[in-house]
Amino acid sequence: MDSKGFSRLLAAASSAGLDGLVLVPGPNLFYLTGLSFHLSERPVVAFLFRDRPPLLVLPTLEASKIECLTGGWRAFTYSDEEGYETAFQNAVAMLGLTGGVVGVEALRARFLEVSLLERYLPAARLTPAEDVLAQLRMRKTSAELSAMRRAVAVTETALKRTMDSVQAGMTERAVAAALKIELLRAGADGMSFEPIVAAGPNAALSHATPGERPIQAGEPIVVDCGAMVDGYAADITRTFSIGPLEGEMAHVYHVVRAANEAGRAAVRPGVPAEAVDQAARTVIETAGYGPQFTHRTGHGLGLEVHEPPYIVAGNRRLLEPGMTFTIEPGIYLPGVGGVRIEDDVVVTESGGESLTTFPRTEYTRR
Ligand code: CO
Ligand code: CO
Repeated sequence: MDSKGFSRLLAAASSAGLDGLVLVPGPNLFYLTGLSFHLSERPVVAFLFRDRPPLLVLPTLEASKIECLTGGWRAFTYSDEEGYETAFQNAVAMLGLTGGVVGVEALRARFLEVSLLERYLPAARLTPAEDVLAQLRMRKTSAELSAMRRAVAVTETALKRTMDSVQAGMTERAVAAALKIELLRAGADGMSFEPIVAAGPNAALSHATPGERPIQAGEPIVVDCGAMVDGYAADITRTFSIGPLEGEMAHVYHVVRAANEAGRAAVRPGVPAEAVDQAARTVIETAGYGPQFTHRTGHGLGLEVHEPPYIVAGNRRLLEPGMTFTIEPGIYLPGVGGVRIEDDVVVTESGGESLTTFPRTEYTRR
């Protein structure tokens, strides 16, 4: 276990008024232990409280995973036959809590885990721990950044190979299928999310799903995808076309590209996250497309595809070296099309660096 991460987390919890934290399978537990569990009908719950050993309730069939765990963890295992009740009773008895405030992963813990906590820690007050947990993983280590660079490189290789063979008449689904194969071929362990391939009017939907409509020359093709490599996600969007973009979309492309550039140029330590959103948004508003930029400028990226810091108006959190997030302005004209250009960036000591190197100039095929 990363004992530094552990003590940092408990210190943050303490200053937020929490007596401890309860974690379930997911990126936070993985970050602290290096262990991957699934959220299943067999609950896995970690109890992290100050001045007490970290406790883990888990099924016996997962017990081999914790053999290499250091840091004084105590495990309480249960078989399918006996059920998890006794394991929870024993874990909670060892904690010896009489009340207190317990932080819970509000976006991940299920009714199953929350009701177990209510039953076995009846005197504790449960509260969302997202703000405390946000501080755990936002600043990436150099090892994490290396993994993210590999994820970006794999994604860019796959994107190039796929788009080099796209022709008019192919469907969005066919392109998405080719892209998934190329991502795996290039070295992805999996997808960060289901790739988006949206052409023509579908490109006006920021979260479109690939359909059966044949792609036509001159229309925008928004491709948004990412590889997972060693647990870390890439998330890249480029807008392509077969032949030059036609009509208003050609102009829109240049506005979005300028907005992406302005967003990246605004990245540096000490600047509030919302200033990066504002920098990108101002370019689009000045061009008269403000209402057509229908989402925030970006989101944190790492073990999860969406994590803090969010690059959005109202987020005054100051950027720090090592933070990683996307910059993905877009303009969407309903019924016509859309353009989005998304890069993955890291805050450096003096500014920002784009992990994405895929060309942002109009990338067209003949
Ligand atoms: Co994306
Ligand atoms: Co994104």
